[in-house]
Amino acid sequence: MGNKDLNCIYQCPVCGLPLARVERQYLCEKNHSYDISEKNHVNLLLANQKKTKDPGDNKEMMDNRRDFLNKGYYHRFSEELNDTIDCNLKTNVEYILDAGCGEGYFISLLKNKLSSNIHRANINYYGIDISKSAIKNATKRDKSINFAVGSNFNLPILDNSLDCIIRNFAPGEVKEFNRVLKSEGKLFIITPGVEHLFELKERLYEKPRKHEIKDDALGGFKLIEHRQIKYNIDLMDNADIQNLITMTPYYWSITNEMKSRINALESFNVTLHFNIHVYGKL
Ligand SMILES: C[S@@+](CC[C@H](N)C(=O)[O-])C[C@H]1O[C@@H](n2cnc3c(N)ncnc32)[C@H](O)[C@@H]1O
Ligand SMILES: [Zn+2]
Repeated sequence: MGNKDLNCIYQCPVCGLPLARVERQYLCEKNHSYDISEKNHVNLLLANQKKTKDPGDNKEMMDNRRDFLNKGYYHRFSEELNDTIDCNLKTNVEYILDAGCGEGYFISLLKNKLSSNIHRANINYYGIDISKSAIKNATKRDKSINFAVGSNFNLPILDNSLDCIIRNFAPGEVKEFNRVLKSEGKLFIITPGVEHLFELKERLYEKPRKHEIKDDALGGFKLIEHRQIKYNIDLMDNADIQNLITMTPYYWSITNEMKSRINALESFNVTLHFNIHVYGKL
C-alpha cells in the first residue's frame, strides 16, 4: 500500500481492525474501504447504525450554529474551556477528539490555541459527528483536522488511543469513551449550567424551568475538576436570536405562536452558563 498513514487511529466500523489512509481512501486489512471526499471528510457510520435517514442536527441547524458561533458570542466560553483543557493535559499529548463536534468551531479554536505552544505542536485533532451536514461544514472550517461522520455510541476509533475527549453539549456513551481513552487520558464533559439561556426560555414557555443539577458521578471515571462559566450576551439582531434557537433542543418543539413572539424581538440579553467536568480514568 502506497502513502500509508501510520498515525491514523480510525477503526474499521465493519470489522474493528485499524484503518490506514491510502491516497483518497481509508482501508483495513480485510479491504473494507471508505472514500475521503473531495472536501476531505469520510463517512464511518454504517447504514445499520443510523436510526433515521439524516441523523443528528440538520443542515439548517448546522448553518445557523456556524453563523451564530462565528459572531463570537461563545468565544469567551471557548477560551475558558481551552484553558481548562490545556491545564489538565500532560505535555506529550498526541490525540484529541471532539465527540459530537458539530460544525467544528470549538475543536478548531482549541487547535489554534494549543498549536501556538511548541510542546503541543504535534497533536492530531479529530472531530466526529453523526450529522453529515455538521461534518461538511466542519471540513470547510479547518482542513487540517480529521473530521468523520460517526456515532458517539459506536466510535470508529481504536481502543486506548486518545489522550483527550471533549463532549460538548452532545450525547455519548461512557463505556465507549472509556474504551477509546488511554489510561492517563482525560474526558471533558460540557453541559448547560442551571441558568443557561433562562431568559430565552422565559420568552418561549409560560412556566420556564431552570436546568437541573445532575449527579456528576460517572462509572469508570473519577471527577478531577468542576468549573462553571457564566456571563451575559447582548443579541443585537433578530437573526442572531433565531439562530440561537436552532442551536437548542427547543427548535424541535417550537410552535408558530412562539415563533411570532421571537420574531418581534429586536435585541435580547441572555445568560450563558456552562459546566465543565473534567474526568480521569479510574
Ligand atoms: C448541540 S450540538 C453541539 C455541537 C458542538 N459540540 C458545539 O458545541 O458546537 C449537538 C451535536 O451532537 C450531534 N450528535 C447527536 N447525536 C450524536 C451521536 N450519536 N454521535 C455523535 N454526534 C451526535 C449533533 O449532530 C450535533 O452536532
Ligand atoms: Zn474492516
